[in-house]
Amino acid sequence: MTKRITVAIDGPAAAGKSTLARRIASKLGYTYVDTGAMYRAVALWALRTKVAVSDMHRLEQLAKEARIEFKPGTNAVLLNGEDVSEAIRAPEIAGAASEISRIPAVRRELVHKQRAMGEQASVVMEGRDIGSVVFPNATVKIFLDAEPQERSDRRARESALPAEVVAEQIHERDRRDRTRNESPLVQAPDAVYVDTTGLSIDEVEAALLKLIRDRTSNGKERTN
Ligand code: DC
Repeated sequence: MTKRITVAIDGPAAAGKSTLARRIASKLGYTYVDTGAMYRAVALWALRTKVAVSDMHRLEQLAKEARIEFKPGTNAVLLNGEDVSEAIRAPEIAGAASEISRIPAVRRELVHKQRAMGEQASVVMEGRDIGSVVFPNATVKIFLDAEPQERSDRRARESALPAEVVAEQIHERDRRDRTRNESPLVQAPDAVYVDTTGLSIDEVEAALLKLIRDRTSNGKERTN
C-alpha cells in the first residue's frame, strides 16, 4: 500500500511559501493546503458578523462551524460555499487573522480540520506550525525564510500600499506570530532551513523538489 506523504512548509510572512507550496503540489499531484487562508477565512467571518477578536467563545464556534474548502485545480478558497479568495487577502484580514490565531481554541479547531485533510490525501501544507504541531511526523519538513528586506519588497510589489507601510505590517505580524504563547512560529528541529534570499522561484522550486524526492521514492514514502 502506498503511504500518504505530508510535506510541511513553515516560515514567516512573504517568504514565498504559498507560491512554492502550490507549484510543488501541482508537480507532485498532491493536495495544496494553505492554512493561513483558513485563519483568514475565520477572521473574515468574524469581521463580517461583528464578532470581536477578544470574544474567544464565539471565535471558537466560528472556527468549528466554518466549512473551508480548497477547490482542486484552482486557487479558490471557499468559506461555507462562498468564494472568498479575494476577500481574505485584504490587509485588515491579515491583521485580524494574526490576532485570532493567538487563541488556543481557534487553533485547536483549525488544526483538527488540517489533520483531517492530511488523512485523506498526500498534501503540501504550508503555515506557521505545520512541522511543529499539526504534523510532527511529516515526511518532509521545510522552513522557508528570506531576509526581512526582501520579504517586504516582495509583498510591496503586490500591494497598493507604500513600501514602508508594508514593511511595518510584515514586521508586526512576524513579531506577533513568533512571540505568541500558543504554537508560535518556530523551526521544527528536524526541518530543513531554506533561505530564498536572492533566489528565483524556479531555483527554490528545484531545491525543494530535490529535497522531497531525496526523502521519498518516486513520490512514495521510502520504507527503508
Ligand atoms: O500565511 P498567511 O499570511 O496567510 O497567514 C495569516 C495569519 O494566520 C498569520 O499572521 C499567522 C496565522 N497563521 C497561523 O498562526 N498558523 C498557521 N498555520 C497559518 C497562519
